[in-house]
Amino acid sequence: MGGHIRNIFSPGFIGKMELKNRIIMAGMGTSLEPEDGTVDQRTIDFYAERARGGAALLIVGVGAIDHPYGLALTNQLGLSDDKYVPGLKVLSDAIHANGAKIAIQLHHAGKVAMSDFGRGIDMVSASELSAGGSEILQDMASTEIPRLMQQFSKKPPHNTTLALSKEQIKDYTRKYAEAAGRCKKAGLDGVEIHAAHGYLIANFLSPHTNKRTDEYGGEVKNRTRFLLEIIAAVREKVGRDYPVWCRIDGQEFEIEDGITIDDTKQLAPMLEAAGVDALHVSGYGGFRRSFYHAPICQPEAHLVGLAAEIKKTVKIPVIAVGRIDAELGDRLIRDGKADFIAMARAILADPEYPNKVAAGRQDDVIPCIQCYNCATQAFWNAPVFCAVNPAAGKEAELRIEPAGQPKKVLVIGSGPGGMEAAIVAARRGHKVAIYDKGVRLGGALVFASMASELNEAFLYYLIRQVKKLGIEVHLGTEVTPQLIDEIKPDAVIVANGGILTSPDLPGKNRPNVLTGSDFRKMLASNLKGEGARMLTWWQKMAVRISSPLLPYLITIPNIRKISRIWLPIGKRVVIVGGDIAGVELAEFLADRGRQVTVLEEKDLAAEMSIARRWNYLQHLREMGVTLIKGVKYGEITDEGVSYSTKKGSTVVPADTVVITGGIAANTALYEAIKAKVPQTFIVGDCRELRLIHGSVEDGCRAALAIQ
Ligand SMILES: Cc1cc2nc3c(=O)[nH]c(=O)nc-3n(C[C@H](O)[C@H](O)[C@H](O)COP(=O)(O)O)c2cc1C
Ligand code: SF4
Repeated sequence: MGGHIRNIFSPGFIGKMELKNRIIMAGMGTSLEPEDGTVDQRTIDFYAERARGGAALLIVGVGAIDHPYGLALTNQLGLSDDKYVPGLKVLSDAIHANGAKIAIQLHHAGKVAMSDFGRGIDMVSASELSAGGSEILQDMASTEIPRLMQQFSKKPPHNTTLALSKEQIKDYTRKYAEAAGRCKKAGLDGVEIHAAHGYLIANFLSPHTNKRTDEYGGEVKNRTRFLLEIIAAVREKVGRDYPVWCRIDGQEFEIEDGITIDDTKQLAPMLEAAGVDALHVSGYGGFRRSFYHAPICQPEAHLVGLAAEIKKTVKIPVIAVGRIDAELGDRLIRDGKADFIAMARAILADPEYPNKVAAGRQDDVIPCIQCYNCATQAFWNAPVFCAVNPAAGKEAELRIEPAGQPKKVLVIGSGPGGMEAAIVAARRGHKVAIYDKGVRLGGALVFASMASELNEAFLYYLIRQVKKLGIEVHLGTEVTPQLIDEIKPDAVIVANGGILTSPDLPGKNRPNVLTGSDFRKMLASNLKGEGARMLTWWQKMAVRISSPLLPYLITIPNIRKISRIWLPIGKRVVIVGGDIAGVELAEFLADRGRQVTVLEEKDLAAEMSIARRWNYLQHLREMGVTLIKGVKYGEITDEGVSYSTKKGSTVVPADTVVITGGIAANTALYEAIKAKVPQTFIVGDCRELRLIHGSVEDGCRAALAIQ
């Protein structure tokens, strides 16, 4: 099973609950459920799909013990009333029928109960706190701020979070216990007490938020008292044999007086002695850049060390989490650093991840590209989606079913939208051919892959699927209306990308100025024509001699390597345009020793999810990139690029200027052929700027719509 990956597929126990393997789907607040906290079909479909995918246990995110209060998201499952039990029973039956076990988090959001805040209701915590919140606005795009604010009612939100009285502590303790009792009644296999991530219990555990002077504040033992009382009450309700465990923060990152690993090492044995069956070791970092540390960490296996430390202090199983793939998880279990591995994004991106790995089909795994789009949805109270898996959260709507009648399908363009369309159409049984005028598959994803190896992994995944499914590929072939007449397809999916535009700046034709399109050509194998503008005579000669081989030589990893040694770009570079392409280019160039300034008229990297942007822009600043937004572009001269802001005008010196510009719709071909073919679709950037996630979803929808 799973080739060399074996340990993760061995059975294990959490308390009396036997799990068929060591893979747990970590809790995700998906906002798929209705606002009344009940279970609906969309929620069942989401979890059933993941149960079929092979994880042993699914943990449902943030079950609200005090619904409709104490919610971090407007849409969370309710556990606060017996009326929720029948729905939970239907959910748990569906998961069991599909071969997995199911648990839910017992949750109260405490000081981050945004829905209370939004409705002008006092939030509660360990101690009274004044409202923070402005940190979340850092690097937020101007279009996002109204989106964030729209979830708050017209009533001015209160500015304080109130400390729980001892009476209230008892009341909330009872609510946790009653919620656990309902979960047991509904047939769920266990509960995870959510004692992490800045929520109510963590507010007590963290010295950052717990300033109490009574027996619930001070040393670790006192700060743990609330949690220990909850565990005792839960145990009384559900008995000793029902699986109950806690999710805790191994550490709070970049939080003044935050929880340290030493605190957690003291906490863990207390929880074990109180009778929990496992510890799930996560972490917390708050908003802004620290979000990248935890809980949804960007560096691989970022929290593993914390789990390994906790494991040394207890005998009960330890669950590790935080960008752990099956291969690493397998080693962690083998080496006794963890007993179970929880995964969130990997299973969101590919519900079948466990089964595919077990079958040795790693090549077929849809890789998460760490774009943080899923996590960002929570900020707007919008349902979760996944950039690389359009069916996530839309399992029934976007299910791939065999076509009634196989059709001849022609896909024009091989970017993410085109390839996804081709793959879905082929899986439905259609006969599919991709045509692309470029020399390789990938379209805009090739350039997105220069900046990110994770995008590259997705590109290769798509290419592998295209090959495996036997999809015909015609590269270097421009589709014309005449070609359509010759081929006579039943359906055409136009995915030939948008038109790169650039602002009309005085001086843009100077020899040291490249447009984003020139730069792409230079990095692709097209080092002739416009792409050669920055080459010296001997470089042009070298290109001419080697040009038949260029498509083979110029692979993405080779470009990354060669461009470190040779890149015909001056030392001081000004990038005019700070959209996602502009900032990714800034990183690429700064990483190659260039001194980079990015000028942007509006917001920087507005198309990037805010959670990724927080880290990305900070990372660029640390690389020495100067980021200037809200500018009015001036002109390009011998000295550099002039611009003005409210503070006045200035010039940034530049040896090379790259004008990135935007993407405009490109509908000409679609318009020219649509009357010739029974069914024609237009997907991705040629329709409008859709980026990876929109293009992939468009492609999938078009392929499903072929009749
Ligand atoms: C969309 C999304 C929603 C999440 N919601 C929750 C949640 O409700 N409760 C929770 O404890 N953690 C939540 N997390 C954190 C995950 O459980 C997990 O700890 C984190 O994503 C790291 O694991 P991964 O690298 O495998 O994604 C969420 C993560 C994502 C991506
Ligand atoms: S939305 Fe992005 S980060 Fe989230 S699971 Fe999908 S690919 Fe990964």
